[in-house]
Amino acid sequence: MAFFVRVRMVLILLAVAAARSATALTPPPSSATDLAALLAFKAMLKDPLGILASNWTATASFCSWAGVSCDSRQRVTGLEFSDVPLQGSITPQLGNLSFLSTLVLSNTSVMGPLPDELGSLPWLQTLDLSHNRLSGTIPPSLGNITRLEVLDLAYNDLSGPIPQSLFNSTPDLSEIYL
Ligand SMILES: *[C@@H]1O[C@H](CO)[C@@H](O)[C@H](O)[C@H]1NC(C)=O
Ligand SMILES: *[C@@H]1O[C@H](CO)[C@@H](O)[C@H](O)[C@H]1NC(C)=O
Ligand SMILES: *[C@@H]1O[C@H](CO)[C@@H](O)[C@H](O)[C@H]1NC(C)=O
Ligand SMILES: *[C@@H]1O[C@H](CO)[C@@H](O)[C@H](O)[C@H]1NC(C)=O
Repeated sequence: MAFFVRVRMVLILLAVAAARSATALTPPPSSATDLAALLAFKAMLKDPLGILASNWTATASFCSWAGVSCDSRQRVTGLEFSDVPLQGSITPQLGNLSFLSTLVLSNTSVMGPLPDELGSLPWLQTLDLSHNRLSGTIPPSLGNITRLEVLDLAYNDLSGPIPQSLFNSTPDLSEIYL
């Protein structure tokens, strides 16, 4: 009996050790995740004026890149471009910018679908993707952004209904433009 108990305890300890090393192998989201998301964003865009090509370079911290703002821990809180041609689709990796509170890509010729992953930005307050060529439907996942205050998707090629989820769990949503 005592033998079995001890064997079981060893197994539990091994399981705990395995769980710990698994966590160590997948670090929590960090500034490196933010950098990867910004580079993925850049990689999806044609950027005919070379705004990203000339400015978003490894010689400076991404917090000093044009259109990017950060908090004191070097996490991205804002990504904002207006009236510049970026031309491409919006990478789902933007959903990894865990502290993003402002996302403005207004009149930037972005096209294609709105990634579902934007719904996993818990701090997002302003989402302005107006005056573009976005198509497809408005993802119901946007209803998961409980802090959302402004949603501007006007002047796009979006279709379909406004997801009911947007009215259920976004108490601060005071401005919607479609
Ligand atoms: C990138 O743009 C920002 C803001 O316009 C500017 O402050 C910075 O010096 C630029 N960096 C480079 C490498 O051009
Ligand atoms: C969009 O940006 C272009 C410059 O890239 C500008 O000429 C045009 O007036 C802007 N459109 C709107 C609706 O602001
Ligand atoms: C970021 O997002 C993409 C797509 O949503 C995902 O495949 C990737 O594993 C995420 N994590 C990191 C660290 O980039
Ligand atoms: C986000 O929203 C979708 C669709 O409304 C839902 O299926 C999903 O479970 C939600 N995810 C989280 C993490 O709340």
